[in-house]
Parts: sequence; structure tokens; C-alpha cells
Amino acid sequence: MLIHLIAAARPNFMKIAPLYHALKKEEWATPVIVHTGQHYDLNMSDAFFNDLGLPEPDLHLGVGSGTHAEQTGQVMITYEKALMQSRPDLVVVVGDVNSTMAATLAAVKLGIEVAHLEAGLRCFDRTMPEEINRLVTDALADILWTPSPDADENLMREGISSDKIHRVGNIMIDSLEMLREKIEKQRAYKEFGLNPDDYGLVTLHRPSNVDNEDVLKSICEILARIAQKIPLVFPVHPRTRKNLEKNGLMSLMNETPGMYNVEPLSYTRFMNLVFNCCFAITDSGGIQEETTYLEIPCLTMRPNTERPITIHQGTNQLCKLENLENRIENVLSGEVGQTGAIEFWDGKTASRVVKSIRNQLLG
Ligand code: UD1
Repeated sequence: MLIHLIAAARPNFMKIAPLYHALKKEEWATPVIVHTGQHYDLNMSDAFFNDLGLPEPDLHLGVGSGTHAEQTGQVMITYEKALMQSRPDLVVVVGDVNSTMAATLAAVKLGIEVAHLEAGLRCFDRTMPEEINRLVTDALADILWTPSPDADENLMREGISSDKIHRVGNIMIDSLEMLREKIEKQRAYKEFGLNPDDYGLVTLHRPSNVDNEDVLKSICEILARIAQKIPLVFPVHPRTRKNLEKNGLMSLMNETPGMYNVEPLSYTRFMNLVFNCCFAITDSGGIQEETTYLEIPCLTMRPNTERPITIHQGTNQLCKLENLENRIENVLSGEVGQTGAIEFWDGKTASRVVKSIRNQLLG
């Protein structure tokens, strides 16, 4: 059975890796990695493939950057051609990036079955491009693999038949567990002269935080103040770097004592920084989940989250910019949030997905 795994942007790579490795072991499955090229830099893509033990993609669509319509359209056009040349039995899309939705559209229109891994997440905020991608992908996919009960409920509320929905858990925890030893060996914090539990980790790249000059300037000023109290390591996403440079803010960030601004890091080096930080400030989806699993306080700089379980059963809290300094004080004085194991966030999601494919498609 020919199975396409769509990899496009950085947060996708750690979601397809465990599944690729699990499918490779199955006699009946031929997994093929399709890289759309949405992320193309060495440190946004290749470094992840290396760390995660993924081979060179079998198919590279070379789409690159562009507006939303350009990126979505390019993936549809190029992927449709690839599908017509060699028709897979199943297309697996992950997460919520533009390529996830685009590959789904191209495949379903050719009558090819699509499965969505990380289905059902909703933040109910349609100004977020990812929410549109999630809604469209879930409305069209034939198999919906969800990470948590809230995701099942969202899908049912949208009228999706329950026999399409299969709760398999959180695949990112599989990558984390698969590479735990390598991650623990890294000691990435040492490169900045830092010690475990003695720094905060920052990642910010959402358009709502980094595209507006005034918002970005306020964020930089507040981070600079926090860095006077506790060092901050900030791997800077290309979108964020572009905007910092355009608005003349990169020098403020570089001149601030205690602020370590670096290029995006490979998976294992970055995760080593997560393992050892005393808090994370982020607007990423994945980091809300990884910190919950690791029981590390996480301040999410967004008005909402599609991952509410990380708040109710985890260490995550939504935070407004004006409250950030106070919240950091609380965290430093020991406030962690509720923690407890979440069902199926256990490193065994890939094997549940393989079982689901076998049951659904091989009968
Ligand atoms: C995308 C996803 C987002 C995900 C994020 C993780 C969508 C709508 N957004 O946002 O959900 O959280 O990836 O990183 O799909 N760039 C580079 N090098 C690269 C990739 C991008 O320089 O390898 C630049 C692009 O030129 C562009 C900017 O970064 O200017 C943004 O890239 P893009 O893929 O459009 O969106 P992200 O903000 O990365």
C-alpha cells in the first residue's frame, strides 16, 4: 500500500517522523515522504530531517514562500501533477499549515483517501490562518486521527460522523520519546554559558505578534526587561527576524544583556533547551504540548488556543503582553499549573495510527 506522508513546514517534521519509522517496519506499507517545500532553509527543514532520522524526501514540490493563496495554489498544482503520475492508496496530512489543506484538496478531488493526523483542534478564531486550514482539512478528510477528547467533540459538533474519528493521541510525544536520550545529551544551554533551570525560552512567530510594528516593539521592550532578571534564549523564526530587522528592533534585542537571540535550532538542540528551561514564552502550538508533557510552565502569548487540554490538564496559560512580567514573577516563585498524564500522550501514537490504517484500509 502506497502511503504519502506530507511534510511541509517545521512543525510537521516531528509529526511525520514516528509514523514514517513505524510504517517502514510494516510489510504491507510503502511510506513515501512528500516535501512541499513550504519551509526550505537548512535550519527550518534539513536539520530536522537529520535529527529525526528521515531520509531525503522521495518527492520535493519546491513550493517556497508566498502569499497564502500563492502557497496553497502552488502546492495544489504541483501535488496534483505528482498524484496523477503515481497514485497513492492514502495521503496522510498532519497539523494545520497551508500545505496540509492544499494537499488535502488536491487529493480528495482525485478521489484519493486522506487521513488527517492532529484532527479536530479548534481555537474558534478565524483570523488565524491555521484555523481555516484545520476546518477545511477536517471537513474533507476521510480519516480523522485526534489527540484529545476536546478534538473528538469539536468534530462531532461539526457534524462529522463518529466512525471517521479515531483518538490516537499526540504524535509529537513519540518524537520526543524516540529521541529523549539524544536530546538529554545535547546540553545546548552550555553554549550560552547558562545552567539548567536558570533561563527562560522564547519563541514567537505568529503574524498577530510579529507582523505589527507597535506590537513587536512592545514585545521586545518587555522581553528586554525580563532578560534583566532572568536570561532568555530566543531562537528567532525567519518571519520574526525579517520583521525585527525591518523595524530596526534587532539591535535592541542584540544589545540587551541576558538576551540570547539565535537562529532556529535543530530539533534535538531546541528540545534540550525546552527540557532544561524554567519557563517558556511562546505562541507555538507544539511547545504548549511539549511543556505540558514535561511539566514546565508555559506562557502562551495568544488570546486563545486550539489546545485547551494544555490549560485544563497541563502547565499552559494564555497571557496578555501587559501581564507577562507579573506572570513570570509568579512562575519564578513556583507556580506551575495543573499537571497529570494525558491519555495517549505516551509515545505510542504512531503504532495506534498504523493499526488504524491497517483496520480501515486492509480490512
Ligand atoms: C508556518 C505555518 C504555521 C507554523 C509555522 C512554523 C501556515 C499558514 N503557517 O508559518 O502554522 O506554526 O510555519 O514555523 O502554514 N521563511 C524562510 N525560510 C523558511 C521558511 C520560511 O525564510 O525555510 C520565511 C518566508 O519567506 C516567509 C516567512 O518566513 O517570509 C514565513 O514563512 P511561512 O511558511 O509563510 O509561514 P510561517 O510564519 O513559517
